[in-house]
Amino acid sequence: MVSPPPVEKLQAAEAPLVAKVLGPDFVWGVSTSAYQIEGAVQADGRGASVWDGFCRVAGRIANGDTGDEACDHYHRYAEDIALMQQIGVSAYRFSIAWPRVLPLGRGAANEAGLAFYDRLVDRLLAADIEPWICLYHWDLPQALQEAGGWVNRDVVSWFADYARLVADRLGDRVKRFATFNEPSVFTLFGYSFGWHPPAIDDRRSLYAAVHHVNLAHGAAVDVLRARVAKASIGAIHNVQPSRPVRPTAPDRAAAAMLDDFWNRAFPDPQILGDYPTSIQRGIEPHRQAGDMERIRRPVDWLGINHYSPIYAKADPAAPLGFAWADAPPDVPRSPIGWQVDPAAFRDTLLDAQERYGLPIYVLENGAGAVEKPDAAGEIDDRERIDYLAQYTGALRDAVVLGADVRGYFVWSLLDNFEWGAGYANRFGLVYVDYPTQRRIPKASARWYAALIRSEAMKVAS
Ligand code: FCB
Repeated sequence: MVSPPPVEKLQAAEAPLVAKVLGPDFVWGVSTSAYQIEGAVQADGRGASVWDGFCRVAGRIANGDTGDEACDHYHRYAEDIALMQQIGVSAYRFSIAWPRVLPLGRGAANEAGLAFYDRLVDRLLAADIEPWICLYHWDLPQALQEAGGWVNRDVVSWFADYARLVADRLGDRVKRFATFNEPSVFTLFGYSFGWHPPAIDDRRSLYAAVHHVNLAHGAAVDVLRARVAKASIGAIHNVQPSRPVRPTAPDRAAAAMLDDFWNRAFPDPQILGDYPTSIQRGIEPHRQAGDMERIRRPVDWLGINHYSPIYAKADPAAPLGFAWADAPPDVPRSPIGWQVDPAAFRDTLLDAQERYGLPIYVLENGAGAVEKPDAAGEIDDRERIDYLAQYTGALRDAVVLGADVRGYFVWSLLDNFEWGAGYANRFGLVYVDYPTQRRIPKASARWYAALIRSEAMKVAS
């Protein structure tokens, strides 16, 4: 942990640097993901994803919500790009729905699905917004799940073939590629906690999935590097301090174990070439000679998603010896109860810089709320603005203190399907009235637009 310098030193360092802190090339963006916004799950030959079926199991998703319609972005992407232009972002991170372009996950490609991403990319470029593609944001084709999914080592070549299809189709226009979004979330939640598909609680499967996702990352990096000229490649990791809920030895050990799984099980092998010690034994049965070299392929940047710290407590009955715990009662919280701790964000950026030594892009940060328009039809989301102001301030502090952070993307452009919470939790800068699909920019959209303009002006002056 890098300890922050005293406040006086920070202020002194800040003064002359203010205009230069983020630099003219700093990327201000917004992020989304396919299953959360596209809807149109039956349109134009899209195949089923694991989330389609998971949402249909009673009790999995709040209110029985599904991604069937979501924000209907599949049909309304042009309007959504116009919203991005209004905000003034220079980059848009989205994901490709694997089952939209390969309905069975492998084999025959779906031309209509690929054509959708052509239209999206072309429209973004025409709007002067750089597309950032994430290949995998959790929507595995159902047909591949039935063939074993992430537990079957063949998934490595299925993923590499999918990466090749996307690279060959879009790589003439898209240079920014991420392989995976938050691999520790979908592996841990899918193979241990039951909150994501395939909702299996099995340690052997968990370790197999972790290792195969890492191998798939390495294989896709090679494919993208070979097939996309001037590609800029990374992966997106959720990185958050893992804290013991009480200062006891068992809770500390639980927090350390959670830290290894949550924060390190993917970036460590991908960037440093090995697993954390606590994970190595579980990986051993799945590891073949040469695997660590296959995983550790050179990447250009580290993508970080960060919202708040996490807490663990010891639970000897739990498969990995830890259970999730709530933050202490007295901490500041966002409207949906997530802890607000911008200093933890600053320290996360500094720690990641020190540990991995790569340029950093913050590819998700934002605040959730349960909200609706007021009598005037406006959404005055002051708490989100307050959160974003504190977190962008912390980002600037981290840059002043030496972190090489090159971009910041708000999660999210739009309110959308928030996984287990369904549509109840809203993270958008833009409100979505789901029955009509009307978009209403919130006060935070105007705030973010003003921030981007003011940062641009600072650099120019
Ligand atoms: C992240 C996910 C993203 C969204 C935000 C709130 O963990 O990557 O899809 O759900 O949380």
